[in-house]
Amino acid sequence: MAEIRIRNTDERITGEEQVKAFLDSQEVLYEHWNPDKLEEPLREKFVLTDEEKARILETYDVEIRDLASRRGYQIWDIITLSEATPNIEDLLAKFENVHTHTEDEIRAITAGRGIFIIKGTDDVGYFDVELSAGDVISVPENKPHFFTLMDNRQIVAVRLFIEKDGWIAHDYADPEFQKA
Ligand SMILES: [Fe+2]
Repeated sequence: MAEIRIRNTDERITGEEQVKAFLDSQEVLYEHWNPDKLEEPLREKFVLTDEEKARILETYDVEIRDLASRRGYQIWDIITLSEATPNIEDLLAKFENVHTHTEDEIRAITAGRGIFIIKGTDDVGYFDVELSAGDVISVPENKPHFFTLMDNRQIVAVRLFIEKDGWIAHDYADPEFQKA
């Protein structure tokens, strides 16, 4: 289940209702899928064949189509990141820059963990959303953010797009942001 850390105060927010209420206040969509729907061998597998990726999409077909019909997504796929990903260090270094997109960035975590760092309202500042299997998050268009892995450095997620071009990253230079 997702947890929040507010960077300015180090305050943590836990519990589905509290996390959802906080993310609502920041206009970040948060939902939860049942991680137990996924067959057990795929819950801890981070290098996947095309067949395994298709099985994950099939497992969550109802949830994906429900989200897509509510929010206009046209295409979806599976992304995996782990120590086995070629050039993982370069990729992570590239990811760890605050940026925006012209469409929302939605991820449904099916295995592993990850963090979105998001620029909140002025009274909140930057906050981390720590995600694990079952967590579904959408960072709204034009909201500064970046994504990175947690210490175990492995994740599998479903990505959904309205158009793939909408997901191009635009750097957001922010003197107020401090990596911590
Ligand atoms: Fe992004």
